[in-house]
Amino acid sequence: MGRIDTLLAAMTIEEKIGQLNMVASTLAVTGPGQLGDIHEGIRTGRIGSLLNHWGADEVHAVQRLAVEESRLGVPLLLGLDVIHGHRTIFPVPLAEACLFAPDLWEKTARAAAEEATQDGVALTFAPMLDVARDPRWGRIVEGPGEDSWVASQMAAAKTLGFQGQDLAAADSLAATAKHFCAYGAVTAGREYASVDVSERTLREIYLPPFSAAVAAGTAAVMPAFIDLAGVPMTANAPLLQGWLRRELGFEGVLISDYNAVAELMNHGVAADAVEAAALALKAGVDIDMTSDCYVRGLTEALKRGLVTMAEIDASVRRVLDLKQRLGLFDDPYRRGSAWPHGARDAERGELAREVGRRAIVLLTHRATILPLPPETQRIALIGPLAAASREMLGPWASAGRAQDAVSILEGLKAALPQCRIDHAAGVEITGEKTDGISAAVDLCAEAAIVVLCLGESAAMSGEAASRVDLGLPGRQRALAEAILGLGKPVVVALSSGRPLTLPWLFERADAVLATWFLGHEAGHAVADVLTGKFNPTGRLPVSWPRHVGQVPIFYNELPAGRPYAPGVHYSSTYLDLQPTPQFPFGHGLSYSRFALSDLRCKPTQVHPEDTIEVSLAVYNESPVLGEATLFLFARDPVASIARPLLELKGVQKAVLAPGERTEVTWRLPVKDLSFVGPNFEPVLEPGRFEIHVGQSADPSGLLSCAVELTK
Ligand code: BGC
Repeated sequence: MGRIDTLLAAMTIEEKIGQLNMVASTLAVTGPGQLGDIHEGIRTGRIGSLLNHWGADEVHAVQRLAVEESRLGVPLLLGLDVIHGHRTIFPVPLAEACLFAPDLWEKTARAAAEEATQDGVALTFAPMLDVARDPRWGRIVEGPGEDSWVASQMAAAKTLGFQGQDLAAADSLAATAKHFCAYGAVTAGREYASVDVSERTLREIYLPPFSAAVAAGTAAVMPAFIDLAGVPMTANAPLLQGWLRRELGFEGVLISDYNAVAELMNHGVAADAVEAAALALKAGVDIDMTSDCYVRGLTEALKRGLVTMAEIDASVRRVLDLKQRLGLFDDPYRRGSAWPHGARDAERGELAREVGRRAIVLLTHRATILPLPPETQRIALIGPLAAASREMLGPWASAGRAQDAVSILEGLKAALPQCRIDHAAGVEITGEKTDGISAAVDLCAEAAIVVLCLGESAAMSGEAASRVDLGLPGRQRALAEAILGLGKPVVVALSSGRPLTLPWLFERADAVLATWFLGHEAGHAVADVLTGKFNPTGRLPVSWPRHVGQVPIFYNELPAGRPYAPGVHYSSTYLDLQPTPQFPFGHGLSYSRFALSDLRCKPTQVHPEDTIEVSLAVYNESPVLGEATLFLFARDPVASIARPLLELKGVQKAVLAPGERTEVTWRLPVKDLSFVGPNFEPVLEPGRFEIHVGQSADPSGLLSCAVELTK
């Protein structure tokens, strides 16, 4: 008998349930939960895993209780939300998505895994793969944005980065793909609200990132808090057992979200903890995170015949298998002993700066005032986010320390030692006070340029942070209007965890940068872009609406029977606003200017097994070296089921010297043009397919060619 069989045979029912019980540590608590006596629970085998408990000594202390003092000596599994860095904090995921660079996505996850495992952590609740098309939803900040293909690329890169080549290695962190699934589609963008999407949308948009995570070997998956058409995800047997386990062959661990098993009662599908536990376990949820329902309810559920011992055993086996794969049985103290803190800190800092500046999106640049001329003598740095180092960490900062974060003020001062930089906050992020505005205005009098740092606080996005108003909070608009009224050149740095609807600002400011929450190196990253040390390359992974009334808004819409046509009454629009976004998906300016030409598809007559070579010429027509980002979209204009106007199939980048011209080529397998057919199988229908390439999803900037598919 193998180790797991031997253990299972020796376990009491209480010890089995203990393996399925995850408890929140007293170190940090992220939601409602009960703690009980953790140490006693570990000793008696009633707790199999902990979350929010980190630090090599702290972890080894509890691990010792499990290994040396519990009857069977099963090691604990230590989990933590290592979302965008652990000690070194990288940009929030939505900002990182702006890179469109899987190699860097993987690198930041690897760095985070190295740091978290040094702190004894073995499991992260990441990557978050929720496609989100509604910026009212605060959790848009935690994910990859609106596109399913991008989310799938991120799923693979992050899973590989966290888990490394060998899950048992001392620096490998088990990944949890979350939140399964369609959480981003909560009704009206309201946190925790119900979701109802078609099976087609589920299969085309929300499930592919999870397929990608499973294909990349994710150790765990977390069902979302929400219900999908009345079936809470925590009890959603058709999707968890049917799709994930049977269709996809996922053999890893399913971990409930925080208290979600108990919340099955609130959802109205379970009368008590016993029924809640039974529903979740039967749906395949192996670990109950903090709700205590498995402990309170599973034995009784067994008596009532609601679950079988075989089902409990299957879950315990999966948990033990994960512990074994992580190498915890062989050496439970491996994580936290590998190398001292501080090793490779500098390298990770550089990575944070590189990823930070690559995440910045130059949204507008009306007058060419950037980069700041090197001879600039005096800058007024105004706004409540200019010296807000803590905010730069964003809503999920793991073990990242606020005092290590570089504010925009500090970053600019370091970059421009000869320049005088005067700073005033003017107003608070959310407060109603306006008495600081006049001093801020006065400070601008002698400045050559004003850098205005506006936006949200970190806590205004993330979990339980939906907003109906996507404008600037507090009195920031009053401050901005006062500054814009001075007639000085004004550059705005917008810190936020979501797109903000600020048409008035985009119209009046000379340049606006989306600077999100960029982590520890935020200030240096912003300074690199402002001074031109780095030429911006970030591209929007979400359409940026003009008005909250337009959401949900996304580029890969289906064609309407009466498509939008300016000035045409009976077309798909609003009476009071055009339907197009403020900035399309993929938008992002550069200090360079690129021209695209000569798009070609080869061959133009194709068969299902072929690969299409798509190429185009890119020319840097500016005097500045820069990086172009090219998006390849496909369209099936006539199909048995209507297909989106554009579907992203590939992204490439090209670095070009002034006046340089280069050719960019994709190899697009014809099978990538298939879609989910009527029976939810991939179908490839003969006929004409369009290929469009551009620097964003803006239809007016796309070059097009076509291929004809014959069977
Ligand atoms: C969140 C999860 C997170 C968990 C553990 C929940 O509230 O929804 O994303 O992993 O807490 O902290």
